[in-house]
This record gives sequence, C-alpha cells and structure tokens, in this order.
Amino acid sequence: MKLFLFSIICFSILCSSNGKSARPIPPVRAVNLGGWLVTEGWIKPSLFDGIPNKDFLDGTSVQLKSVTVGKYLSAENGGGTIIVANRTTASDWETFTLWRINETTFNFRVFNKKFVGLDIVRKSIAIANTLGVAETFEIQRNPRDLNRVRIRAPNGFFLQVKTEELVSADYEGDGGWGNDNPSVFLLNITGRMQGEYQVTNGYGPLVAPKVMKEHWNTFIVEKDFIFIKKVGLNAVRIPVGWWIAHDPSPPKPFVGGSLQALDNAFSWAEKYGIKIIVDLHCAPGSQNGWEHSGSRDSSQEWGQTDDNIQQTVQVIDFLAARYAKSPSLFAVALINEPLAPGVSVQNLTKYYKAGYDAVRKHSPTAYVVLANRLGPSEPRELFRLANGMTRSVIDVHFYSLFSDIYKGLTVQQNIEYIYNNRTAHLRELTTSSGPLILVGEWVAELLLKNATKQDIQSSKYTQ
Ligand SMILES: *[C@@H]1O[C@H](CO)[C@@H](O)[C@H](O)[C@H]1NC(C)=O
Ligand SMILES: *[C@@H]1O[C@H](CO)[C@@H](O)[C@H](O)[C@H]1NC(C)=O
Ligand SMILES: *[C@@H]1O[C@H](CO)[C@@H](O)[C@H](O)[C@H]1NC(C)=O
Ligand SMILES: *[C@@H]1O[C@H](CO)[C@@H](O)[C@H](O)[C@H]1NC(C)=O
Ligand SMILES: *[C@@H]1O[C@H](CO)[C@@H](O)[C@H](O)[C@H]1NC(C)=O
Ligand SMILES: *[C@@H]1O[C@H](CO)[C@@H](O)[C@H](O)[C@H]1NC(C)=O
Repeated sequence: MKLFLFSIICFSILCSSNGKSARPIPPVRAVNLGGWLVTEGWIKPSLFDGIPNKDFLDGTSVQLKSVTVGKYLSAENGGGTIIVANRTTASDWETFTLWRINETTFNFRVFNKKFVGLDIVRKSIAIANTLGVAETFEIQRNPRDLNRVRIRAPNGFFLQVKTEELVSADYEGDGGWGNDNPSVFLLNITGRMQGEYQVTNGYGPLVAPKVMKEHWNTFIVEKDFIFIKKVGLNAVRIPVGWWIAHDPSPPKPFVGGSLQALDNAFSWAEKYGIKIIVDLHCAPGSQNGWEHSGSRDSSQEWGQTDDNIQQTVQVIDFLAARYAKSPSLFAVALINEPLAPGVSVQNLTKYYKAGYDAVRKHSPTAYVVLANRLGPSEPRELFRLANGMTRSVIDVHFYSLFSDIYKGLTVQQNIEYIYNNRTAHLRELTTSSGPLILVGEWVAELLLKNATKQDIQSSKYTQ
C-alpha cells in the first residue's frame, strides 16, 4: 500500500488516430514504480536513516561564514583564482558543493566545477582542476552546535581566515568554538540531494550492497503486482539507472542487484498479465542534474560527447536484448526528462535515432518512447523524428506542481486547469498523423497545502 501513497503517478497512452473521439481509450493505465530501482529520497526517506554523518552527502551545497570577519568564503570569479572571505551575502561563488569521500572527508567543488585544494608549500588555499590528496578536507562539527564547523586541510592544519583576502591552512590549535577563533565557520546548508549516488556513496561499498538489496527485495513485491491487477491497472512504468547494464559490478558507488529485481518484476508481470515500460531514468553524466537521474552534484553532463551517447545506447541495447522476448515488454523509454538547454535537440535526436535502432534490433513491436525535453523547448520538436519511426511515442509530464502558475489555485481552479489547459496541451500534441502520446508522469498531488482527501480524489478523477 505504501507504494500507492507515495507514487500514484498514473499515465496513459492516447491513440493518435482517434483524436476526434471525446474519450479515447488509453491502451495502458499504469503506475510508476518510483523510488524502487532508482532512489528518490522523498519517496522513502528512511532509506537514508542509517548513513553516518548523513547531512553531508554528495551534492550537498554549503555556504561558510567566517566568525571572525563575519563574511562568507568565496571562490573568486567562481573558481580559477583564489579563495577569499570578503562577501557579505552568499550566492553562486560562495556556494561549495560536497563530494563525499567517506563520512568525514570531502572535496569542495566550486561554481565553475573546479575544486578547492591546498597549496602545500605555501599552506594557502587554491583552486585545483583535478582531484588528489591535496583536495581532501575533513569537516569537523561542533557537537553542541552543528552549525559551527572547522575544516582540516590535508596537511593536518585547519583553514583560518587571516584577513578578508587571505585564507590559509595553518591553524594548529583547537582554540574552542567561539567567535574569536579564525578557524570557525558558520555553516549554512543550502541544498541537498537524495538520489542513488547519495545513498550508495553515503553507506559506502561495504554496507550499501546490503541496504540496497534489502530495499529492492521489500519495497516492491509480488503482492503489489496482484494489487495493481486487482485495481484495474494494466501496466507499470519502472525507472532504472544506467548502471543496471553493468550488473553485478557497476562502477562505484553504484551497487549490483537491481537487475535481479527487474527480472523479478518481469516474471511477476508475466504471471499476472501486466505490461512493463522500462524507463531509463538515469543516463551516464546525468541528463538533468536532478537526484532522480543519478547525478552526483547537480551537474548535467549527458549528451555532451559521442562516447557518452554511445554508452547510453549500449544500456538500451542491453535492456532490449534481455527483455525483448518477454510478452510483458510493452515499451522502452530511452531517457527520462532531458533538460534544455543543457541537452540540445540535435544531440538528443542523435541519441534517439541510435536508441530506437538498438530497441528495434531486438524487438519489432516494443513501443519506443521519446521524452520531450523539459525547460525551454517546443512541444512538437520531436514530431519529425518520431514520424520516421514505427511505434514511437512522445512522452510528456503533466504535474500541477513545480510552477508558480498553480500557486493560489483552488481545487476547482485546478480541476478546470486540467479540463481546459491540459486538454489543449494534449490536443496540440495529438494529431491524426503524428506519434502516440504518453503522459508518462502525473500525480494527484496539488500545490494547495490544505487540500482534503476528497479534493485530491476529485482532481485525480479529472485527470
Ligand atoms: C574580495 O577580494 C578580492 C581579492 O582581493 C577582490 O578582487 C574583490 O574585489 C573583493 N570583493 C569584495 C566584495 O570586497
Ligand atoms: C576517510 O578518508 C581519509 C582520507 O583518505 C582517511 O584518512 C580516513 O581514515 C577515512 N576515514 C574513515 C572513517 O574511513
Ligand atoms: C542560509 O541560506 C539561506 C538561503 O540562501 C538564507 O536565507 C539564510 O540567510 C542563510 N543563513 C545564513 C546564516 O547564512
Ligand atoms: C553535442 O555534441 C557535440 C559533439 O558530440 C558536442 O561538441 C556538443 O558540445 C554537444 N552539445 C551539447 C549541448 O551538449
Ligand atoms: C488556461 O487556459 C485558459 C484558456 O482556456 C487561459 O485563459 C489561461 O491563461 C490558461 N492558464 C494558464 C495558467 O496557462
Ligand atoms: C484552503 O485555503 C484557501 C486559502 O488559502 C481557502 O480559500 C480554501 O477554502 C481552503 N480550503 C479548505 C478545504 O480548507
């Protein structure tokens, strides 16, 4: 039941050929099995409970204010020159993103993606392009006031703010946690990520395999497929990460075992006559920088090289080869929520062509789902591409969330928005000669904070 509380994200494929009919019958009505084979912290927060020092996971953004000068540390020019402590307000250059080495040791990534490092000879703090021993820092927290930290450099000394323009790694002593100690900083955590990278690297290579295996074996079980069948759904959409193709030994920190869980899903689906949409949610390098794409630190690097695209095509090839023979394989979704402008339509098109061919190599019938880009993009930008393919589908996501336009809407206004505006959006996409449309994600949740169960149900029925 828990799964439905958290992830009743339903979707359907509408037939393009009967766009004129008032009520097109969707061939699939499905639930997303979110938070299972790709971790999303909000779906199952307790998965992170056992991580030591869990405030400091990969991708945590921190700002540090010196107690003695009362100003923020800043990577001058976003990185490339020096670290100073002369900013009265904190923004991008004053924000450092953590890479976790283990529970006490971290790299600090600066705005332009370089790293804070130690100039061992001068005991000064520098900006480094590459990572080594000189870029590993220990964060010590005041056990009585967790917002006070000190940072120990790899030479054994603490960072200290000598003047607003001189930060060095040469503070020896302890000196307490008071406002007179130049090695003490006020910590402000301004961003957190709770995805697969964070959970696996947070537990580390010894514990993560056990924790993830337990999660995969218990979060979705055979009984859920029985329930799905019973309530009249006929499909599931299963988000997976690129590392599944490298099971049982994926690159660190990811751990093996999700492939076995997906195999189980296929055997249950076959047993109960349920279809599966396999959805590549995490592409190598991350296609959107969000935690649910397996990103380490919000960087979005997918699609920037041919190598990276080729690597992703191989993942699709692997999945298609493995499941093509299953009567439950309904569709392969090539990539979830590629984000513009970081992902260009040209490079995405190149990938979609190769990904389509990879699926077709193994299956003449599986639908191939091409996700529209989020961010600045055109709803029909993939039409020409999709029209040149057979059994291709355009995927769109319709949340009444994540945008100011839903702020302040009453339940009734939300319902009208779905009736009028979403209908218009779908009509724009649904043409008699165009591709099929998949509303791959939507959710009954409203932005309205005081919505009652009845409200949620009404808007769900409207969808
Ligand atoms: C901070 O210090 C750097 C290095 O001296 C200087 O270039 C910059 O203008 C200073 N910024 C402020 C806001 O004082
Ligand atoms: C963390 O890593 C650092 C640097 O490699 C090492 O010195 C330290 O012992 C490690 N700590 C733990 C708890 O593993
Ligand atoms: C921490 O960050 C938040 C969000 O940027 C900001 O509103 C707040 O003033 C900051 N607090 C401190 C102590 O820097
Ligand atoms: C698209 O791919 C080309 C070549 O592989 C690369 O040079 C370019 O930077 C990529 N564009 C984006 C937005 O990633
Ligand atoms: C919804 O559609 C109506 C016209 O049917 C339009 O006036 C309104 O601006 C749209 N709302 C939003 C938030 O786009
Ligand atoms: C929810 O709050 C809005 C205003 O914030 C109010 O108009 C509405 O009546 C409330 N709804 C319920 C169900 O309490």
